[in-house]
Amino acid sequence: MADPLHTIAATLRDAFAAVTGLPADSIDPVVRPSERADAQVNGALALAKQLGRNPRDVAQAVVDTGALSGVCSATEVAGPGFINLTFTPEFLGEQLAAAAADQRVGVRPAANPEIAVVDYSAPNVAKEMHVGHLRTTLIGDALVRMLEFLGHTVIRENHIGDWGTPFGMLIEHMVDLGGVDTELTVDLSDPSAFYKQARAKFDASDEFKDRARARVTLLQSRTDAPTMAIWQKLVDKSADYFDVVYGKLGVLLRRDDIVGESFYQPLMPAMLDRLDQAGLLDESDGAKVVWVPGFKNRDGEPLPLIVQARTGGFNYATSDITCVLDRVERLHATLLVYCIGTPQSQHLQMVFKAAEMLGVLVPPARAVHVNNGNVLGDDRKILKSRSGEPAMLLDLVDAAIERGRAIVAARSPELPADEQAELARTLGIGALKYAELSSDRIKDYVFDWDRMLAFEGNTAPYLQYAHARICSIFRKAAVERAAVRATTPAIAEPQERALALQLLQFDAVVHDTVDKFSPHRLCTYLFDLAQTFTSFYEACPVLKDGHEATRDSRLALCDLTARTLAQGLDLLGIAVPERM
Ligand code: ARG
Repeated sequence: MADPLHTIAATLRDAFAAVTGLPADSIDPVVRPSERADAQVNGALALAKQLGRNPRDVAQAVVDTGALSGVCSATEVAGPGFINLTFTPEFLGEQLAAAAADQRVGVRPAANPEIAVVDYSAPNVAKEMHVGHLRTTLIGDALVRMLEFLGHTVIRENHIGDWGTPFGMLIEHMVDLGGVDTELTVDLSDPSAFYKQARAKFDASDEFKDRARARVTLLQSRTDAPTMAIWQKLVDKSADYFDVVYGKLGVLLRRDDIVGESFYQPLMPAMLDRLDQAGLLDESDGAKVVWVPGFKNRDGEPLPLIVQARTGGFNYATSDITCVLDRVERLHATLLVYCIGTPQSQHLQMVFKAAEMLGVLVPPARAVHVNNGNVLGDDRKILKSRSGEPAMLLDLVDAAIERGRAIVAARSPELPADEQAELARTLGIGALKYAELSSDRIKDYVFDWDRMLAFEGNTAPYLQYAHARICSIFRKAAVERAAVRATTPAIAEPQERALALQLLQFDAVVHDTVDKFSPHRLCTYLFDLAQTFTSFYEACPVLKDGHEATRDSRLALCDLTARTLAQGLDLLGIAVPERM
């Protein structure tokens, strides 16, 4: 194992067992990174308390077993009973060599691989994808990549809005235009144009309104072929448009991943029966509701979760509970991830609770709302386009590529044209994705092209450049990257040591990022790594004359840094250039 904290945990567990007489598998040695040393062991505190012993004595006894002498050059008992560890250069070198020999650069697979459903993106048929979908799409896509990398079976689900009352007016509008054979192309500069036309008619004409309502009923019956054909055409055209956006953005979502709201409609009556049989269904003001404990309205009264309106219609709660059932019972998922904005938080918590009361969402199955805040403009309001509507996602994607092009034209005019075009995309899309993913998802962030495209600071271009620079070291040396992977690095200078420790944290950081569903943790790590590398590179000559003896060792550190940067960015869906 490459993570030294993980490697020594097993040794320490045995040492604590020998000292305390407790079974080793019951012991957590609590090994943490430390500011003052390479690592700190805090396990003596809790164990001594449990045994009524002095923690410093327990810590000292663990040190005295000599278990750590092979891997530590210093072991110091400090404070109330911590053990501060300093690793030997040889141990660090071996751990680095183990990471270098590993395809996964030292990242352990998950101990318990699961089936995970990740629900993300979820745009609406006949509507534009806007800046809100930027967040749910990119956060979800990064989590999919990371969960897969850790060995989970990941099912992507794009829960598109493809059902409900607006479809009455949409279908009726198409009937007026000539039915299912109507030429229907989504205008990429205004994907909601058709919707707006239908809406205008709906608002202007009672006759149209009546037809639209009747059409909704017909749609819900699912028995009228012409209605279903028009509906399907609307959905298909929108899916074409979503594919354009996903393709340009380079996210993993495909047609097959669409499991829209319509999918759950036929399953809802059976779900209501189950709620009823479980005694969870009640009536309130003529509606069917579930009382979910712990939720109150503004007046402090219990808040009902409405699963069937007075009119008999189903709503989001009905569909979302059914969706949980489907994911747990049909897909056998134990991890249900929902990448949806923060405003849906209470709704989702109520849905999860209802599914739990129904006995469906129970351990090991669990659901997580991976919520997110807003993307803001300079005015601190939701980022808008010139027309004042929320900014369209496709416009942002195109602008990112355009800005990438301008940067490449200015910085790398010597590259061949096709490489310039590729690099423009890598830079622009990388910057857009990284700006999103490096911000703590629960917070709002201000959208700023100049900042996200800067070559300084916590940005994609900075990290991409760091990667390309390492590749150029190898080109200059005329050494194959893979050729140095068998070299065990010799850790002598403080900057080599700092870089070694940083590299070896990658494993823990990836696991922590996934545990917290927070991609910005990985971003912060990669930025720190690139900075640590810069300090190393400034202090430790790699190719200079007179440094032949350390050359291979330092090249090995360079290679592992580049691989870690590339792997980390790949987990975020960001490509890295070999040169720029
Ligand atoms: N379609 C909704 C929108 O675009 C988001 C739906 C969120 N729900 C879900 N299960 N993903 O605002």
